[in-house]
Amino acid sequence: MKEFYSIAVDGPSGAGKSSLARRCAAAFGFIYVDTGAIYRSVGLAAYRKGIDRKDPEAVAAMLPELRINMAYDEKGEQRMYLNGEDVSREIRQPHISLCASEVSAIPQVRAYLLEMQRKFARENNVIMDGRDIGTVVLPDAQLKIFLTASPEARAQRRMLELKEKGMEQSYETVLEEIIERDRQDTQRETAPLREAEDAVRVDTSDINFEESFNLLCSVISEKLHIEKAEDKK
Ligand code: DC
Repeated sequence: MKEFYSIAVDGPSGAGKSSLARRCAAAFGFIYVDTGAIYRSVGLAAYRKGIDRKDPEAVAAMLPELRINMAYDEKGEQRMYLNGEDVSREIRQPHISLCASEVSAIPQVRAYLLEMQRKFARENNVIMDGRDIGTVVLPDAQLKIFLTASPEARAQRRMLELKEKGMEQSYETVLEEIIERDRQDTQRETAPLREAEDAVRVDTSDINFEESFNLLCSVISEKLHIEKAEDKK
């Protein structure tokens, strides 16, 4: 059986995980898997059905009715489908972030999504980003990165990101949401956000995107003994 590389990228929301992991995946010819999008799809489903996201039994009862699929478009962008509908944009709304955080605290939800994530990693070279990839989903990943930044730096970046998407929010609102999600994500009983013991910690508070990208590329090259696709030419 062919062995594939797995790179786990974990860290709090807004640390730049998705944009950096996406860019690194493109540079090394890996598939980028945004696992947060899967939790967001479950959060959206619960929201639409008016289910209390803090009621584990009610959320668990909804799971067998859901068809969640992940696909990649011609640009290599991950798309999420909920019962056949492309919900890739809708799951990015701020109120769905909170729904995602709530349902992700439910053990049945995590168990339900675990195999889907592992299967993907068994069949592809992946850079997978999330909260528990290095600790739970892919404990044998060849490289684990814990990507972090201060709440203030993350709020600034998230605000710009939302603005670009035409979803403007004040700095205070975004910062408050980030602090609340950090609290939920680190204090929940099931798979709380924590750094794997063997993870390489990268703090991007004081470095820009290009610097963070270059730093991650050198960590990947060094640990996995691989070169960026563009350097091979
Ligand atoms: O990365 P994100 O902001 O899109 O994630 C949305 C929510 O899903 C976030 O509150 C944490 C949760 N999540 C998780 O619990 N485990 C993952 N592997 C990915 C995301």
